[in-house]
Amino acid sequence: TYVVTEVCIKCKYTDCVEVCPVDCFYEGANMLVIHPDECIDCGVCEPECPVDAIKPDTEPSLDQWLEVNRQYSETWPNITTKKPAPADADAFVSEPDKFEKYFS
Ligand code: SF4
Ligand code: F3S
Repeated sequence: TYVVTEVCIKCKYTDCVEVCPVDCFYEGANMLVIHPDECIDCGVCEPECPVDAIKPDTEPSLDQWLEVNRQYSETWPNITTKKPAPADADAFVSEPDKFEKYFS
C-alpha cells in the first residue's frame, strides 16, 4: 500500500485524490490518509503530490504512518475531487513536527 505522511499536514493540496482509480483517500481537517486495504498499489498518486507526501510503505520507517492511515481512514470521510489548498499551505511545507502540532 501507499501511505500519506507528515508533509501533507496543513498543506493538503489534494492533487492526489483526482488520480486514484479506487477512490481510497479520506479527509481529516489538516491531512488526507489512504485506506491501506482499498489501495491497489498502482502508484499513480505518488508523483502527483507537489510536496512528496505519498510514499510506498515498504520503508520500515513508515510503520507509524501506515498505522495513522489505517486508523483514520476508518472514520474520516472519503474525498474524490480536488479542492483548494489552505491559503497558508505553502508556509507549512518545511514546518517541523507537524504531527505533534497540527495533526487532525
Ligand atoms: Fe490510489 Fe493507487 Fe495511490 Fe493507492 S497507489 S492511493 S490505489 S492512486
Ligand atoms: Fe496531501 Fe499531497 Fe495529497 S499534500 S492532500 S498528499 S497532494
